[in-house]
Amino acid sequence: MRFPVGKDIRLKANVAFTAVADLNAGERDAVDVLSRAVYPPAEWADWPGRKLEWEKPPRCVRVWGGDGELASYIGVVLRQATHDGRAVPIGGIGGVKTHPAARGRGYAALGVQRAIEFFQEQADVMFALLVCEPDLIPYYARLGWREFGGTLLVRQYGAIVEFTFDRTMTLRVRRDGPIDGVIDLCGPPW
Ligand SMILES: CC(C)(COP(=O)(O)OP(=O)(O)OC[C@H]1O[C@@H](n2cnc3c(N)ncnc32)[C@H](O)[C@@H]1OP(=O)(O)O)[C@@H](O)C(=O)NCCC(=O)NCCS
Repeated sequence: MRFPVGKDIRLKANVAFTAVADLNAGERDAVDVLSRAVYPPAEWADWPGRKLEWEKPPRCVRVWGGDGELASYIGVVLRQATHDGRAVPIGGIGGVKTHPAARGRGYAALGVQRAIEFFQEQADVMFALLVCEPDLIPYYARLGWREFGGTLLVRQYGAIVEFTFDRTMTLRVRRDGPIDGVIDLCGPPW
């Protein structure tokens, strides 16, 4: 299945899927430079999400633009979750970011598509899940994601709590992503 990518996708983009632990020092620096451009530390010091416990995705997709600069980064997670009490292996994406100078060219969409291909390559991943701010719902909806209107349970510092900080969206991998019921991530969000 292919997903629509940006209208300006006359891309000469390179895409790599990697375990974060395998990034070398220079590659980590490039990710840090991208992160600081997207989230300038001075502006983000008071972000309320800092107080939450998040999983740092152990895998990533990186997308480079035609100029050879790192343009986009997508964190990728596998998780044994439950939906309405039944165990379900799911894939997650998080920490999606594109350099401000490289936006609107389909780089994030391309990286998300690679993450979904990774989920499809796994034997058992049923659906994908992300959390995002409300203004990004139409963007991900254009890529095929649907808003989950049920209850999302997560772990926060050992406690089971309902996640209400962001909105939740799901996408079919082997099975339609649920749009209602109770999903328990059985761990922190990403
Ligand atoms: C969201 C983000 C990753 C998109 O990256 P990108 O490479 O420009 O994405 P694409 O080129 O695939 O798609 C661009 C579309 O994103 C949508 N979009 C981006 N930011 C948006 C926002 N804040 N509100 C609504 N739509 C937004 C727009 O529809 C845009 O389409 P347009 O170019 O026709 O205006 C990028 O804007 C970004 O890094 N934002 C800051 C970090 C963030 O919010 N990350 C999302 C975490 S879930």
